[in-house]
Amino acid sequence: MHIENYIEKNFSAELRTRWQAWGEDVLRPLRFLYGERADFEQCVVNFLEIVRKGRGKRSAELRALDNERLLKPDWYQRSDQMGYIAYADRFADNLNGVAKRIDYLQELGITYLHLMPLLEPRTGENDGGYAVKDYRAVDPRLGTMADLERLTGQLRAAGISLCTDLVCNHTATDHEWAQKAKTGDQTYQDYYFMFRDRTLPDQYDKTLREIFPDFKRGNFIWHEDIQRWVWTTFNTYQWDLNYQNPTVFGEMLDIILYLANQGVEIFRMDAVAFMWKQLGTTCENLPQAHALLQAWRALSRLAAPAIILLAEAIVSPEDVVPYFGQGLATGKECELAYHNSFMVYLWSALAERKVNLMTYALQRLPIIPNSSTWATYVRLHDDIGWAITDENAAGVGLNGFLHRSFLSDFYTGTHEESFARGLVFQFNPENMDRRVNGSCASLAGLEIAIEQRDAKLVTLAIGRILLIHAFVLVYGGIPLLYMGDELGLLNDYNYVHVPEHRADSRWVQRPKMDWWFAESRHNKESIPGRIFSQLRQQIFTRKRLFQLHAQAKTTAVYTYNEQVFGLLRHSPRGNILALGNFSEGYQYVTGQRLQEIGFGGALYDHLGERAFNGRYGVTLEPFQAMWLETVAH
Ligand code: GLC
Repeated sequence: MHIENYIEKNFSAELRTRWQAWGEDVLRPLRFLYGERADFEQCVVNFLEIVRKGRGKRSAELRALDNERLLKPDWYQRSDQMGYIAYADRFADNLNGVAKRIDYLQELGITYLHLMPLLEPRTGENDGGYAVKDYRAVDPRLGTMADLERLTGQLRAAGISLCTDLVCNHTATDHEWAQKAKTGDQTYQDYYFMFRDRTLPDQYDKTLREIFPDFKRGNFIWHEDIQRWVWTTFNTYQWDLNYQNPTVFGEMLDIILYLANQGVEIFRMDAVAFMWKQLGTTCENLPQAHALLQAWRALSRLAAPAIILLAEAIVSPEDVVPYFGQGLATGKECELAYHNSFMVYLWSALAERKVNLMTYALQRLPIIPNSSTWATYVRLHDDIGWAITDENAAGVGLNGFLHRSFLSDFYTGTHEESFARGLVFQFNPENMDRRVNGSCASLAGLEIAIEQRDAKLVTLAIGRILLIHAFVLVYGGIPLLYMGDELGLLNDYNYVHVPEHRADSRWVQRPKMDWWFAESRHNKESIPGRIFSQLRQQIFTRKRLFQLHAQAKTTAVYTYNEQVFGLLRHSPRGNILALGNFSEGYQYVTGQRLQEIGFGGALYDHLGERAFNGRYGVTLEPFQAMWLETVAH
């Protein structure tokens, strides 16, 4: 059927208005992906039918949210946003348990809650839930779909949006589609990438990266039962989906709308860099992977304009920025993307006690669309890969390979001056790459400090934790706090006793919430109390400072002191200069330099709650951060 005919006959007045405004955003990426097909128009009509049905099933409450978001399009860019990431079971046993902890989240000012994969995973090893068996069922350990819907409503009433993972690059081998493919059903074999012999896999492997070289080599697994090599970028039990097949695209669109109708507001689009394959390329960040995201966004917005997408693309900085959309699609791909490189520079600066690399590299980061924003963080559930390019390292006189090796040594505690406790992850003997696991507190020195019962070291470690959070909060975007970091939870070495976790040291940074420990958060003398209360002060200060809206430009500035990082936020809303001392000693920034940056006169530090005259320069205590604003005399 002709697209316009379909719309004329089937779309409501509301959907027709949206189509008039956004139709081209739907068609542009779809033409690029599937435009050559003889059945192109029919494919589009099928997708529009999914949209129509999805809209039809949307509740009155969620429709009201859609209207509110249309009127407040910058809601996720405002400085009152604050994110929290947790595994539901590790945080509060299950979904109903999470609902009982809403007051704890509110105490921290949380407005965005990412509950780690909560859909039904395969049994046994499942990559922390990233091997999904059923996208329409909740992991029975956590509850039911009805519990999820109830929880999203309770969160919404408390001003918290739920973010959930959409594992769109692959399914578990136990998923119904994979099961049918295993019986030889061609329709479902076409949902995946399957090869009879090694001819193509060998050619592809020549240019592909290996993501989990410790777990398996190469990107294809032989399946005896179907006599096929199957594409698996990640673990052997995660089969990559084939989006060259438009039916697969439609299936995932339907799943997005199904979950959106349960009240999910933010979709964390997992491993999006890998979604399109093309021989002779790395099969990462291909233009078609971008088009898939643009098409999902445009189509899902027709039915549910309240939702936004977060790109999980842990790739080099130049490759991340395009996930916000470029050219005609500027601002029309993902609203949010993880700022992986900022996280890496923060840890690099702490190890080196120098901020040059971070300043240099951030100054070279391409600008992002006005309507987009970063998800900033210091730790997540995943490992840290030292995504520092040779060019950026060379720009400040470092050798990229040696610096990355230094960071791996430093954060796994093998460097003699290290304060950190971390574990090596996925050593790749071919390029000698080593990634690192560890909780924020352990990497920042708290584990060693406590072990040595050294109060001075404890203070330094707490200083590091608060310093990097101060920058994550001031940078612009939604700051994400990983569960437990607000209390200084240390590495959890118990994962080795869990058979499904033993081989994956990422579990070291996924501790269980210690609610007994959390009780002491109100005792300001205790370690959790010191971290929690100061972090909370940072969070609520950020909320007050509307100048920190994500649309304010973010510029890294040299302070002319190699140990003091400067980050300028400026816009017609007002200017804020964040300074941070990345060393164990006192550091000074001259009055002249402050003046050059535009902060020469009377200044107010919102973090220290103190006014002073910038003309005489400023001294920062070890690991102190300041958020400065010029004030009238
Ligand atoms: C993402 C997840 C990671 C998972 C991978 C495969 O990178 O963050 O935990 O292993 O995708 O799904």
